[in-house]
Order: sequence, then C-alpha cells, then structure tokens
Amino acid sequence: MNVPMADLQAQHGELKEELRAAFDQVMATCDFGGLGENTVALEQEIAAVCGSKHALGVNSGTDALLLALLAMGVGPGDEVITSSFSFIATGETICLAGATPVFADIDPFTYNLSPEAAEAAITPRTKVILPVHLFGQLADMTQFQRIADAQGLAVLGDAAQAIGATHAGKPLGAWGDANTLSFYPTKNLGACGDGGMVLTDDAELAEQIKLLRFHGSGGKGYFHKEIGYCSRLDGMQAALLRVKARRLTAWNDARRANAGIYDEALSGLGGLVLPCAERGSHHIYHQYTVRVAEGRREALQAHLKSCGVQSAIYYPLPIHLQEAYAFLGYKNGDLPESERASLEVLSLPVHPELSRQQVIHTADAVQEFFR
Ligand SMILES: Cc1ncc(COP(=O)(O)O)c(C=O)c1O
Repeated sequence: MNVPMADLQAQHGELKEELRAAFDQVMATCDFGGLGENTVALEQEIAAVCGSKHALGVNSGTDALLLALLAMGVGPGDEVITSSFSFIATGETICLAGATPVFADIDPFTYNLSPEAAEAAITPRTKVILPVHLFGQLADMTQFQRIADAQGLAVLGDAAQAIGATHAGKPLGAWGDANTLSFYPTKNLGACGDGGMVLTDDAELAEQIKLLRFHGSGGKGYFHKEIGYCSRLDGMQAALLRVKARRLTAWNDARRANAGIYDEALSGLGGLVLPCAERGSHHIYHQYTVRVAEGRREALQAHLKSCGVQSAIYYPLPIHLQEAYAFLGYKNGDLPESERASLEVLSLPVHPELSRQQVIHTADAVQEFFR
C-alpha cells in the first residue's frame, strides 16, 4: 500500500465538477486580475473564517509576510524576533524588508517560538515579534500579546500552516496586529498555484498593504504614491480557492481524526515522542510531526519507505545555521532546542484524503519499527 504525504489528485478528483465550473466562469469573464470579483469574494470569505476585519490577497505566503512587515514600518535598523525552526520565508522576509532577524529558541514540546525566549531577546531595536504557528497550531498568543502590550511592540503571526486553528477559543484574527496565510498547493487550503493573504483588523495597515501589493498605487490608475510590488492573488486562483474553502472545516476535521488515530496507536512507544498541543489550542495538523531520538530518525524513515509510506523532515536545518544567514553570526549551540528538533523530527502523512486503512498501515509500520 502506498501512503503519500499529499494527494492533490484525489482532492481535485472529488471536486472536479465544482473546480471545472469555477474555471469556466473565470474563462468566460476573463476576470484574471488581482482585484476582481472572485478575489474580493475570497477575501471576505477568508476574513470571516479567520475572524478578521480585513483580508488582502497577495501572490504568496512569502509576499504576505514581506508586505505585512513593510506595512508595519519595519526597515533598516529594526529587529524582528522570530523562530529559526521554520520555513525559510520567515527569516528571509525580515531580511528583505531590510531589518535584522533575531532568532529565539522554540518550546521543545510544541515547536512554536517560546514566549520566554522571545521576551529575553527584546532590545531597544525590537519592533515586531513574529511567532510562527507551526505545523497547524497557534503559538501561545496569550503570552505573546501580554509581552507585546507591555513593551509596546507589534505582533505579526506567520499562519501559513494554521488556517482554521484557534487559541483559547479565539480564531487567528483575534490575535496580534496581523497574520499571514499561504495558499501553497499542499497547505490545508491550497491553490492550484501560488497565493497568500494578510489578515488584520487595522484599517490603516490594510490600506498600506493595498498600496504596496499594486505598485504603490493600490490599483487606482497610473498614479503611484509609493514604490511598491506586483503581488496580486489572481482571479483564477481565487475562484478555485473559493471552491476549496467550502471544504476547509471538514478537511481540518479529517486531519484531526487522522491525528487521533495516530495518537492512540502510537502512544507509549519507547523512543517516539508524539505531537503535543499548546494549552487551549485547536490544532489543525498541517503536519503530524513526531520526534525520534537522534540517530534513529533516518532508519525509521527508511523503514517507512520500505512499507510504501512517505514521510518528510520539516526542517532539517534551522534558519540561523543556513549558509545564506551566516552573516548574522549565529553558531551551532546558540538555539539548542531548534537545533535538536531539526535532528529529530519526522512528519507522517496526515492529509484529509487518506483512507482509514492508509492511516492504520502507517501506524502499523511505525509500531513495527519500534517493536
Ligand atoms: C511557515 C511558513 N511561512 C511562510 C511560507 C511561505 O509561503 P509561500 O510558499 O506561499 O510563499 C510557508 C510555506 O511554504 C510556511 O510554511
């Protein structure tokens, strides 16, 4: 039996008629631009799902981070505190904005940025705290909000992996000054190409992002207030995303159900650490990430492969140790928990298209390895 990490053919097969109708509608109207009917409607629908006043479609989750940072006024001389145990875009966009990323360590149980470590990293140059809501659960936003309020800092959440997650019973939009989403195809809500979004309740921030995403003009004729970017969520992606967005809750529930099967089948295996939920978190399992004592992970991955089960390592090297970021001056040992996680984590297939048999086959293969 084969168990892939993602199965977009199966997802699209189920939605074939609806996706085809959405495609035909856009082809008929030729409403391909980034400010058209489908993009505006998607923005409203996602704002409602996430409990935000404003949602601004952009070209990718990476652009969403960059434009949000720029709109917050982040630039040269500023520091942004974030997690090194993340996808590269988190650190990359801070640098692209001209600021300096300051990496603080993660909580070893949830893999999210540790509020205590972030607080200890604050300096007079800190402008923003950027927690990453990794693997599908929100970071401890109660703590981040408290720290930011006390120190007069802004909070930007990287929610590329956490659409539909909640913390303390409140949705994403209730936390921080802004949050960003990615619609990369394998995300919980994925486009058929690239896409991203910035969520915020702040009308001024929203206006600034509207300007920046459309060449500094906001799309209003050929008059440019600022030097901006070309970063639109195009009409075709928006139309296809609107079809998929109707399934998001059911898909997230299916991921949670798959995670529940793993939790039950794999608990108590010596040498294997299961995902741990943040207190009060509704986890939507973008990834089901286990931890295996250093040295055995690659053997487990090889065993799973021999059983037809794909797995993946997110992320094998934290950002602070990446070659491109050597200029920041970090060295091995600076962020022990991020470094240890990179050596020990392994993500198992958890996507909603998995059959119960595939999940059980995966759990059996993991059990076999540890017994
Ligand atoms: C945590 C995180 N941040 C940012 C991004 C960037 O999103 P995108 O690939 O849409 O640019 C991703 C997605 O890959 C991500 O997982």
